[in-house]
Amino acid sequence: MSNEMKDSSEPDDVLVFRSRRWVKPEDLNAHGTLFGGSLLRWIDEEAAIYAIIQLGNHRAVTKFMSEIDFVSSARQGDLVELGIRATRFGRTSLTMRAEVRNIITRERILAIERIVFVSLDGDGAPIPHGYTEITYNRDRLPAH
Ligand SMILES: CC(C)(COP(=O)(O)OP(=O)(O)OC[C@H]1O[C@@H](n2cnc3c(N)ncnc32)[C@H](O)[C@@H]1OP(=O)(O)O)[C@@H](O)C(=O)NCCC(=O)NCCS
Repeated sequence: MSNEMKDSSEPDDVLVFRSRRWVKPEDLNAHGTLFGGSLLRWIDEEAAIYAIIQLGNHRAVTKFMSEIDFVSSARQGDLVELGIRATRFGRTSLTMRAEVRNIITRERILAIERIVFVSLDGDGAPIPHGYTEITYNRDRLPAH
Protein backbone atom coordinates (compact mmCIF):
# COMPACT_ATOMS: atom_id res chain seq x y z
CA MET A 1 0.00 0.00 0.00
CA SER A 2 1.29 3.45 -0.93
CA ASN A 3 1.22 6.05 1.84
CA GLU A 4 0.63 9.03 -0.41
CA MET A 5 -1.76 10.71 2.07
CA LYS A 6 -0.41 9.17 5.24
CA ASP A 7 2.47 10.24 7.41
CA SER A 8 4.56 7.17 8.21
CA SER A 9 4.40 8.04 11.91
CA GLU A 10 0.60 8.31 11.89
CA PRO A 11 -1.06 5.78 14.21
CA ASP A 12 -4.24 4.30 12.79
CA ASP A 13 -6.60 5.75 15.40
CA VAL A 14 -5.32 9.33 15.41
CA LEU A 15 -6.99 12.31 13.76
CA VAL A 16 -5.03 13.90 10.95
CA PHE A 17 -5.39 17.64 10.49
CA ARG A 18 -5.21 18.19 6.72
CA SER A 19 -7.16 21.39 6.22
CA ARG A 20 -6.44 24.89 7.47
CA ARG A 21 -8.45 28.12 7.72
CA TRP A 22 -7.65 31.73 8.53
CA VAL A 23 -10.37 33.34 10.66
CA LYS A 24 -11.51 36.42 8.73
CA PRO A 25 -13.99 39.26 9.54
CA GLU A 26 -16.84 37.53 7.67
CA ASP A 27 -16.43 34.48 9.94
CA LEU A 28 -17.16 36.39 13.17
CA ASN A 29 -20.27 36.62 15.33
CA ALA A 30 -21.53 39.79 17.07
CA HIS A 31 -19.19 39.07 19.98
CA GLY A 32 -16.18 39.26 17.66
CA THR A 33 -15.31 35.59 17.89
CA LEU A 34 -15.59 32.80 15.36
CA PHE A 35 -19.22 32.20 14.32
CA GLY A 36 -20.39 28.63 14.96
CA GLY A 37 -22.11 28.51 11.57
CA SER A 38 -18.84 29.17 9.75
CA LEU A 39 -17.15 26.42 11.71
CA LEU A 40 -19.94 23.95 10.89
CA ARG A 41 -19.82 24.88 7.18
CA TRP A 42 -16.07 24.20 7.17
CA ILE A 43 -16.47 20.87 8.99
CA ASP A 44 -19.36 19.73 6.78
CA GLU A 45 -17.36 20.51 3.64
CA GLU A 46 -14.27 18.77 5.00
CA ALA A 47 -16.34 15.72 5.97
CA ALA A 48 -17.96 15.68 2.51
CA ILE A 49 -14.58 15.67 0.75
CA TYR A 50 -13.30 12.96 3.10
CA ALA A 51 -16.45 10.86 2.54
CA ILE A 52 -16.19 11.20 -1.26
CA ILE A 53 -12.57 10.01 -1.14
CA GLN A 54 -13.41 7.11 1.18
CA LEU A 55 -16.66 5.99 -0.48
CA GLY A 56 -15.70 6.68 -4.08
CA ASN A 57 -18.95 8.50 -4.75
CA HIS A 58 -19.62 12.21 -5.35
CA ARG A 59 -23.17 11.68 -4.12
CA ALA A 60 -22.34 11.50 -0.41
CA VAL A 61 -24.66 13.53 1.84
CA THR A 62 -24.72 14.51 5.48
CA LYS A 63 -27.19 12.31 7.36
CA PHE A 64 -26.45 12.88 11.03
CA MET A 65 -24.28 14.88 13.42
CA SER A 66 -23.99 14.04 17.12
CA GLU A 67 -23.56 16.66 19.85
CA ILE A 68 -21.38 19.53 18.72
CA ASP A 69 -19.09 20.75 21.46
CA PHE A 70 -17.83 24.29 20.91
CA VAL A 71 -14.98 23.88 23.37
CA SER A 72 -13.29 27.25 23.04
CA SER A 73 -13.46 30.32 20.81
CA ALA A 74 -11.21 31.66 18.08
CA ARG A 75 -10.59 35.27 17.07
CA GLN A 76 -9.98 37.16 13.85
CA GLY A 77 -6.55 36.30 12.50
CA ASP A 78 -6.34 32.95 14.28
CA LEU A 79 -5.13 30.00 12.22
CA VAL A 80 -7.20 26.87 12.75
CA GLU A 81 -6.94 23.34 11.41
CA LEU A 82 -9.61 20.70 10.80
CA GLY A 83 -9.21 17.01 11.49
CA ILE A 84 -11.50 14.21 10.26
CA ARG A 85 -11.23 10.47 10.60
CA ALA A 86 -13.48 7.55 9.65
CA THR A 87 -14.55 5.57 12.69
CA ARG A 88 -17.04 3.16 11.09
CA PHE A 89 -17.86 1.88 7.64
CA GLY A 90 -21.52 0.84 7.42
CA ARG A 91 -23.32 -0.66 4.44
CA THR A 92 -24.29 2.63 2.80
CA SER A 93 -22.90 5.02 5.44
CA LEU A 94 -19.61 6.30 6.77
CA THR A 95 -19.21 7.58 10.33
CA MET A 96 -16.47 10.11 11.09
CA ARG A 97 -15.06 11.97 14.07
CA ALA A 98 -14.10 15.63 13.71
CA GLU A 99 -12.08 18.16 15.59
CA VAL A 100 -10.97 21.76 15.02
CA ARG A 101 -8.03 23.26 16.88
CA ASN A 102 -5.83 26.34 16.95
CA ILE A 103 -2.72 25.65 14.88
CA ILE A 104 -0.40 27.64 17.15
CA THR A 105 -1.68 26.79 20.65
CA ARG A 106 -3.20 23.39 19.72
CA GLU A 107 -6.20 24.42 21.87
CA ARG A 108 -9.31 22.50 20.87
CA ILE A 109 -12.07 24.69 19.41
CA LEU A 110 -14.70 22.15 18.37
CA ALA A 111 -15.32 18.42 18.64
CA ILE A 112 -17.98 16.23 17.00
CA GLU A 113 -17.91 12.57 17.95
CA ARG A 114 -20.10 11.27 15.11
CA ILE A 115 -20.79 12.66 11.64
CA VAL A 116 -22.63 10.21 9.37
CA PHE A 117 -22.60 10.51 5.58
CA VAL A 118 -24.63 8.27 3.27
CA SER A 119 -23.67 7.20 -0.23
CA LEU A 120 -26.53 7.78 -2.70
CA ASP A 121 -27.38 6.54 -6.18
CA GLY A 122 -28.57 8.79 -9.01
CA ASP A 123 -32.14 8.70 -7.66
CA GLY A 124 -31.10 9.82 -4.17
CA ALA A 125 -31.51 6.39 -2.55
CA PRO A 126 -28.82 4.89 -0.27
CA ILE A 127 -26.45 2.62 -2.18
CA PRO A 128 -23.95 0.14 -0.66
CA HIS A 129 -20.38 1.42 -0.98
CA GLY A 130 -18.64 -1.90 -0.40
CA TYR A 131 -15.76 -0.52 1.70
CA THR A 132 -14.73 -1.54 5.20
CA GLU A 133 -11.41 0.25 5.77
CA ILE A 134 -9.83 3.68 5.41
CA THR A 135 -7.93 4.38 2.21
CA TYR A 136 -4.87 6.63 2.39
CA ASN A 137 -4.66 6.84 -1.39
CA ARG A 138 -6.74 8.36 -4.17
CA ASP A 139 -7.70 4.92 -5.44
CA ARG A 140 -11.46 5.26 -4.91
CA LEU A 141 -11.91 8.69 -6.48
CA PRO A 142 -14.90 8.84 -8.84
CA ALA A 143 -13.87 9.15 -12.48
CA HIS A 144 -16.11 12.21 -13.06
C1 LIG B 1 -29.74 10.19 3.24
C2 LIG B 1 -31.13 9.59 3.05
C3 LIG B 1 -31.35 9.20 1.59
C4 LIG B 1 -31.16 8.34 3.94
O1 LIG B 1 -32.46 7.84 3.91
P1 LIG B 1 -32.92 6.76 4.98
O2 LIG B 1 -34.33 6.44 4.69
O3 LIG B 1 -32.54 7.18 6.35
O4 LIG B 1 -32.03 5.52 4.55
P2 LIG B 1 -31.70 4.23 5.38
O5 LIG B 1 -32.67 4.00 6.49
O6 LIG B 1 -31.51 3.15 4.36
O7 LIG B 1 -30.28 4.55 6.06
C5 LIG B 1 -29.14 4.77 5.27
C6 LIG B 1 -27.94 4.73 6.18
O8 LIG B 1 -27.99 5.85 7.06
C7 LIG B 1 -27.92 5.40 8.41
N1 LIG B 1 -28.77 6.26 9.21
C8 LIG B 1 -30.07 6.53 8.98
N2 LIG B 1 -30.51 7.37 9.93
C9 LIG B 1 -29.47 7.62 10.76
C10 LIG B 1 -29.32 8.40 11.93
N3 LIG B 1 -30.33 9.10 12.45
N4 LIG B 1 -28.12 8.43 12.52
C11 LIG B 1 -27.08 7.74 12.02
N5 LIG B 1 -27.16 6.97 10.90
C12 LIG B 1 -28.37 6.91 10.29
C13 LIG B 1 -28.43 3.99 8.39
O9 LIG B 1 -27.96 3.25 9.51
C14 LIG B 1 -27.90 3.50 7.08
O10 LIG B 1 -26.52 3.18 7.23
P3 LIG B 1 -25.94 1.72 6.78
O11 LIG B 1 -26.50 1.41 5.43
O12 LIG B 1 -24.46 1.93 6.74
O13 LIG B 1 -26.38 0.75 7.82
C15 LIG B 1 -32.27 10.57 3.47
O14 LIG B 1 -32.37 10.63 4.87
C16 LIG B 1 -32.03 11.97 2.93
O15 LIG B 1 -32.11 12.21 1.74
N6 LIG B 1 -31.67 12.90 3.85
C17 LIG B 1 -31.30 14.25 3.43
C18 LIG B 1 -29.78 14.30 3.23
C19 LIG B 1 -29.32 15.68 2.89
O16 LIG B 1 -29.88 16.33 2.02
N7 LIG B 1 -28.28 16.13 3.54
C20 LIG B 1 -27.73 17.43 3.31
C21 LIG B 1 -27.97 18.31 4.47
S1 LIG B 1 -29.64 18.86 4.56
